[in-house]
Amino acid sequence: MDNKKFDVVVVGELNVDLILNRIESFPEIGKEKLAEDMTLTLGSSSAIFASNLSALGARVTFLGKIGDDYFGQLVIDRLKEKGVDVSLIVRDPAAHTGATIVLNFQEDRAMITYPGAMNELTIKDISREVLASARHLHFSSYYLQPGIKNDVGKLFEMAKGLKLTTTFDMQWDPAEKWIIDYETILPFVDVFLPNEQELLHLTGKATVSDALQKISGKSNVVAVKMGSRGSLLLDKGKTNIQGPFLNTKVVDAIGAGDSFNAGFVFKFINGADLEECQEFGNLMGAISTTAAGGTKAFTKYGQIMKIAEEKFGYKKR
Ligand SMILES: Nc1ncnc2c1ncn2[C@@H]1O[C@H](COP(=O)(O)OP(=O)(O)OP(=O)(O)O)[C@@H](O)[C@H]1O
Ligand SMILES: [Mg+2]
Repeated sequence: MDNKKFDVVVVGELNVDLILNRIESFPEIGKEKLAEDMTLTLGSSSAIFASNLSALGARVTFLGKIGDDYFGQLVIDRLKEKGVDVSLIVRDPAAHTGATIVLNFQEDRAMITYPGAMNELTIKDISREVLASARHLHFSSYYLQPGIKNDVGKLFEMAKGLKLTTTFDMQWDPAEKWIIDYETILPFVDVFLPNEQELLHLTGKATVSDALQKISGKSNVVAVKMGSRGSLLLDKGKTNIQGPFLNTKVVDAIGAGDSFNAGFVFKFINGADLEECQEFGNLMGAISTTAAGGTKAFTKYGQIMKIAEEKFGYKKR
């Protein structure tokens, strides 16, 4: 063990999700409708990742921005409950904590996000000391953070300079323009964690193998998430596809990708080989689909492994 205070520093966006379920019919302009069920919960991909990684047992700190308001307090409370260190979270009195309203209607959903304080995090909020307090940096949700987006290459370069290992999940681009300087970023990323669609959009290619070929001069390890088909790992020109721990009774897929990342990084920082990281990523992704939302299935390591064994027949290596 080294003398670092944290295993992982997560830099990312924070918000709450207000989820309305069992709505009479889809929203229509000028009409009021009733929902039979409502949940107000921790949202944002980076926060789900941090929570689940902490629940697995890693020492996780979070660096992000919220407003000095009620939703901000909710974010802090939920992260703390899962054991995430919140001392680096900045409360910006000039901003409101972001929120996503999720309207679930049968198999469909509509979402509206108010980014609020997510827009405000910049590279100036991140010091070398903070990065140096952890062994690993994870950055997520590139397109949701305009204040830091153009400095993400610098952030990863700084982390590598300080000998941290690094992972990056760029996530979906709501503008669907996919403008990202990946040539500057990826050389400093140890493991790039896109999903299949994101990788295809990023590269403008039609197949995963063409897409991987396109980034190959710049990327290191790449783990591509493929939903209910599992994941693909590319390491030193060799690809390895691992099928899923299939869940035929999916409650919802919210946070499956972030849980995959948490499982992968948990093994990675503990020195496991990449195939084991991939397998554990698949396993955590599958576990996430067994409960509503992105964090519910992740309480404590022992509990999580119990679900792994009972629902997916997983045996520890
Ligand atoms: N139905 C399922 N059964 C078992 N495992 C699943 C299922 N759906 C997803 N997974 C696991 O979760 C992983 C991540 O899911 P997915 O590919 O949907 O990520 P994502 O698109 O990044 O998700 P997110 O929307 O959370 O960002 C998959 O690689 C797979 O291992
Ligand atoms: Mg994702």
